[in-house]
Amino acid sequence: MKIACLGAGPAGLYFSILARQADPSRQVEVFERFPQDETVGWGVVFSDQALTSLRDADRKTHDEIVAAFCHWDDIDIFFRGQRLRSRGHGFAGISRAKLLDILRRRAKALGVHIAYETTISKPSQWQGFDLVVAADGVHSAVRKRYAEAFRPTSSAGRCRFIWLSTPRRLDAFTFDFRETTFGWFTLHAYRYDEEASTVIVEVSEETWQNAGLYSFTTAQTVAFCEKLFADRLQGRPLIANPCHRSTSEWVKFEHICCEQWHHDNIVLIGDAAHTAHFSVGSGTRLAMEDAIALARCIDEHSQVGSALAHYQALRQPEAMKLVNAARNRMEWFENVARHARLSPLQFSYSLLTGSQRIGHESLRKRDPDYVASVERLVAVQSGVDKTIPPMFTPHRIRALVLPNRVVVSPMAMYSAVDGVPGDFHVAHLAARALGGAGLVMTEATYASPEGRITSGCTGIWNEAQRLAWQRIVTLIHAQSYAKIGLQLGHAGPKGATPIPGRHASGEKWPLLAASELPFDQGGQTPRAMARDGMDLVRGQLVAAVTRAEQAGFDLIELHCAHGYLFSSFISPLTNQRGDEYGGSLDNRLRYPLEIFVAMRAAWPANKPMFVRISAHDWAVGGNTPEDAVAIAAAFQAAGADLIDVSSGQTTALAKPVYGRMYQTPFADRIRNEVNIATMAVGNISAPDQVNSIIAAGRADLCALGRPHLADPCWTLHAAAALGYRRIPWPEQYETARKQYESHIAYFTGEQLQSKYNQGHE
Ligand SMILES: Cc1cc2nc3c(=O)[nH]c(=O)nc-3n(C[C@H](O)[C@H](O)[C@H](O)COP(=O)(O)OP(=O)(O)OC[C@H]3O[C@@H](n4cnc5c(N)ncnc54)[C@H](O)[C@@H]3O)c2cc1C
Ligand SMILES: Cc1cc2nc3c(=O)[nH]c(=O)nc-3n(C[C@H](O)[C@H](O)[C@H](O)COP(=O)(O)O)c2cc1C
Repeated sequence: MKIACLGAGPAGLYFSILARQADPSRQVEVFERFPQDETVGWGVVFSDQALTSLRDADRKTHDEIVAAFCHWDDIDIFFRGQRLRSRGHGFAGISRAKLLDILRRRAKALGVHIAYETTISKPSQWQGFDLVVAADGVHSAVRKRYAEAFRPTSSAGRCRFIWLSTPRRLDAFTFDFRETTFGWFTLHAYRYDEEASTVIVEVSEETWQNAGLYSFTTAQTVAFCEKLFADRLQGRPLIANPCHRSTSEWVKFEHICCEQWHHDNIVLIGDAAHTAHFSVGSGTRLAMEDAIALARCIDEHSQVGSALAHYQALRQPEAMKLVNAARNRMEWFENVARHARLSPLQFSYSLLTGSQRIGHESLRKRDPDYVASVERLVAVQSGVDKTIPPMFTPHRIRALVLPNRVVVSPMAMYSAVDGVPGDFHVAHLAARALGGAGLVMTEATYASPEGRITSGCTGIWNEAQRLAWQRIVTLIHAQSYAKIGLQLGHAGPKGATPIPGRHASGEKWPLLAASELPFDQGGQTPRAMARDGMDLVRGQLVAAVTRAEQAGFDLIELHCAHGYLFSSFISPLTNQRGDEYGGSLDNRLRYPLEIFVAMRAAWPANKPMFVRISAHDWAVGGNTPEDAVAIAAAFQAAGADLIDVSSGQTTALAKPVYGRMYQTPFADRIRNEVNIATMAVGNISAPDQVNSIIAAGRADLCALGRPHLADPCWTLHAAAALGYRRIPWPEQYETARKQYESHIAYFTGEQLQSKYNQGHE
């Protein structure tokens, strides 16, 4: 087999080693455009975890790399005059030149031929090779040539950075944040040699412009950064890379993703296929792990085509996890100013968990004292004098105190008759209240029969419905410590649909919307609302608020998300009106805000009111998370206490990007830019995630939908899993609690942790 590797970076060289090592009869040739000793950048950092896969792939290379490493465990975050240190992370740094030298020597020893100063970009140059490994980095010429096959997307980050070095030994991965008159400057630094550290200085485009850095020579830039971070550098100089290829200039991070990783006998690996922002320090790791996976697939398949298909199937989902984590981290650093309102400790925790990959418990394993100090802080902020898991801290909104941060998200059950919640609703909602959640939200409930999605939806437009709700509210207040909120809405263009799972010919009624646009192609066309209809709906909702108060609800939420009536006004995709209710965002918000204000006026001043919004339409021309900030601010000004941050479902054309906690960044952004409480929702399923979100100040409450359908006692079970015993179980279930806690201890092989339970039991 004849293999060509284009590029002698970590990906190309490491793959050539593994390919030859597995089968010395293979002819492996590496082509590199630069001379042997010219490399871009200074140092690279690996986590301890990353080293394990290298050890298993080629012990010899691993041992040489490890022998050349410098190790450290800590992360230091300097912010507002404080140093926040988190221990136990386990990092190793090496100079990029040294790493490449080790790989190069090993490759040569195994019989790989390396041709330096040889640029390869045309198919004629790789004719005759059975396999072409395009490891030609972020600007891959091969990826560009076959863009139709690889379907790459590329976007530039919003910040600029410069990659420097200093002859100073840092004993921790160091982040330093400086607020200047121009804006925030961030320093990322880590050791890569006995007496040398990589220093990356990152700034937003705006700060860069304000500081006039675009007009600076490299020497002036270096002098500027030296002065700004003089104390951190302890008077040592900063040095620009002598290989003046892009790294001595301020550049933007390029985020690359490819739908397809192979074409004919060509395969992309490393930065050519995907990039990961340097703040997670995983680009080299990803490149080398790609090489490991590809080498394995080549060994296991006799046909190149099937080996490459298998490689992509195996490797792409794994790599994308890290790539997404890196993207979250990148966005965190792009928005330092947003997080800067947090206290220094919470700021540091928000940074450490900012990739959404490292959670509360994995941080605890690394540094229990650090996590304990964060938990103490969250407890104090909530008025609690004990250290407890963040999710179990109480939260006050107006006069309402929620006993913890877990919320049963509103979920339509389509089981009402004539809008009246029946026995099913009693059992369903009470079970979840008994299960420990601090707040149980009802499903979307309507103020008129025509406002419903289906004939099975709940209503609150008559006395029978009000009394049925009152029974549920009274029961929950009497039997649990949960609070209960009523979600009120109007289905608008998504109304009059059949009950899911039932025969398609449901009841039909005329629909209303911002504009005459059916939600789905072929769906019922709604009428564009006229002023008299607007008044009617407003009156119905105000009457519903009065009934909600009589029924004893603790809070109400206005449903302005997911393409229903009020959402149809807010999204530019569904609002095409030419009057004062269409056009600009201010106009599109006019009617939903009018509804909100009228409802708020009818609702007692000491009780909170929430609004659920779609923070992203996930469609071209639709609302973006930036618009969501303005939407949240408008509701805040109208008196909203909390924004319940959902997304999508506003257009059938939406293309959401799902993932763990995928809507939480929107809640974070709104909370910390608008300074209003938020509720995060969407693919939050583990206690660790809830703790991380609350402790990092990304949201004040976490709503879980499907996890609560699967497990009504989600919160009690979470407490047991965390070893937290102070949460009361219903008295009648007390015997089950002990058994459940010991089962957990048995299955995890651990004794229940006692950290939260000192002086108790
Ligand atoms: C500021 C910064 C800091 C970073 N810090 C870290 C870190 O701490 N840890 C980490 O793991 N990663 C880090 N990275 C990322 C890391 O540098 C890359 O992810 C990694 O080098 C990718 O390896 P690669 O082999 O795919 O690509 P590269 O290392 O870019 O190698 C590609 C090679 O192909 C050659 N080439 C390109 N085109 C051609 C052609 N047409 N013909 C022949 N040769 C060609 C190039 O000259 C280059 O040598 C950092 C990146 C930046 C920008
Ligand atoms: C069966 C079901 C019914 C739902 N009904 C509503 C609803 O009435 N109102 C609403 O705002 N969201 C509704 N949602 C959305 C959920 O509140 C929640 O935002 C969504 O399920 C994502 O959270 P999860 O990943 O925890 O399930 C519903 C979701 C499900 C699964």
